[in-house]
Amino acid sequence: MGRKWAAEYHDLFAIDDDVQFYAALARQSGPRSLDIGVGTGRLAIPVARAGSTVVGIDSSMELLNIAHGKVSTLGGGIMSRMRLLYGDIRDFSLSREGRFDIAYSAAGAYNRCRTRAEMAHAIACVRDHLRVGGTFAFDLINVSDTMMDGMPRLDGVAPTDDEGEVVRYVAWRPGPKRGDCERLATYERFDSRGRSVERVAEREMLHTFDPSEVAELLQLGGFEDMDRFSDHQGGRVPVGRQTLAVYVCHRGP
Ligand SMILES: C[S@@+](CC[C@H](N)C(=O)[O-])C[C@H]1O[C@@H](n2cnc3c(N)ncnc32)[C@H](O)[C@@H]1O
Repeated sequence: MGRKWAAEYHDLFAIDDDVQFYAALARQSGPRSLDIGVGTGRLAIPVARAGSTVVGIDSSMELLNIAHGKVSTLGGGIMSRMRLLYGDIRDFSLSREGRFDIAYSAAGAYNRCRTRAEMAHAIACVRDHLRVGGTFAFDLINVSDTMMDGMPRLDGVAPTDDEGEVVRYVAWRPGPKRGDCERLATYERFDSRGRSVERVAEREMLHTFDPSEVAELLQLGGFEDMDRFSDHQGGRVPVGRQTLAVYVCHRGP
């Protein structure tokens, strides 16, 4: 009965307070959306439901398989508007898909760019896939230094459909070079009688970028009309280091 992949627990802990934000931007931008780091389709599905044609790319076959499974249960109309493909955020080419009206990327997928050069290349890649004036919207997370002590912290408890629950702990610690941070998530599953039945861990390396550096790279990459928020409700940027930076900008000519 054990589940093999931590990926299968992602949706249990999803915080959906960004869905309206990205779906509204997709509606305003036009009918063709590109979801970069689509994961389980958490956002791509509501965006497609709202009428958009969505291409989603991700480098995790486990997550793409989960997304495929979800899409296959949707009505034919939505299914026919969705395509899920393997692709690396840092360097992908979807020349056969044509230009998009919006490219969006949620929940820190761009934190997987590990250097300034990788981020610059990833931004250039997005530009190549957007029509002139098309929207690029994404968020980046920043982990405060005080969090990077390697200590596992309780991050959430989610009920399962067999009346058990899954508990997630997350620990952060600094990575090998400045700005890198390693995230270790541990999922422990309990059955309905409170017995621990499974424990899986997921380790990944993220990179945090200074928001002004990202703004500079976007400008150098040919994006303009940039807005920056501190949440998905349009909160303005506070002074000092943010924990979330949400960027919305448009492809220049
Ligand atoms: C935190 S999840 C967010 C998933 C989805 N955007 C959401 O909001 O539910 C980060 C996603 O980025 C994907 N990812 C990580 N590195 C990637 C890469 N180099 N290229 C493409 N996707 C990547 C992961 O597989 C994962 O689906």
